[in-house]
Amino acid sequence: MQSDTYTAMKYLREVDEGIFESVHQFPMMTGVTWPNRSVYLMTPEKGVFIYNPSAISGEIAEEISTLGRVQTLLSPILFHHRYLKDHQSYWPNAKLWGVNGHQEKCPDISFDRELTPENINDFPQGLKPFFISGFPQINEVVILHEETGTLLVADLVFNFQGMTKGFLAPLLGTLAGTHRRFAQSRIYRTLNRDKESALRSYEEILDQDIQRVIMSHGAIVEENAKDRLKKILLNR
Ligand SMILES: [Fe+2]
Repeated sequence: MQSDTYTAMKYLREVDEGIFESVHQFPMMTGVTWPNRSVYLMTPEKGVFIYNPSAISGEIAEEISTLGRVQTLLSPILFHHRYLKDHQSYWPNAKLWGVNGHQEKCPDISFDRELTPENINDFPQGLKPFFISGFPQINEVVILHEETGTLLVADLVFNFQGMTKGFLAPLLGTLAGTHRRFAQSRIYRTLNRDKESALRSYEEILDQDIQRVIMSHGAIVEENAKDRLKKILLNR
């Protein structure tokens, strides 16, 4: 259910009760931009949790702040860190969580915590993290928003559906195997170093009640989301 409270927002869109998004075009390379999405989850303490902090401005920050106090920023994958410092400058008291290897990869960014299976209880209630094992260069963490069955993922799957821009976008999309499709990129698959471990992670995720998949790059999937995700991840 969506409320009317936030219809006047210019940069944020309400996806579901307590879930907001903003999307911008990320300059991937010359001739290609990709959609890049931040997701804003309202926590039970009336705070805001940001999954995948991406491009921000003073105006966007102002809208985000109308949702509540920004408490937590999660950079969910080793590939995503460009906009973290910007977020820290807007919300210096928010806790920045990274994934395994983030601090070493980005020594100029001050992470407060690394998300591990041991400290997931410190996460806001109702947000359940899952660790994708077997990809040491990626180390993605996906989050299930339990109340709505919404799975937030970073690069695990893309769903470009024409949302990429630029003259080289179709070529890059075709090479990645994700042109206009809900799919996992070939690059992601190539970085798998432990197939069994990855499979166990996928099965654990697919065991959950998933009604919707929101990815960092592409259109939100709501129809048969779990079955379609299962086909992609298990190759069936
Ligand atoms: Fe990404």
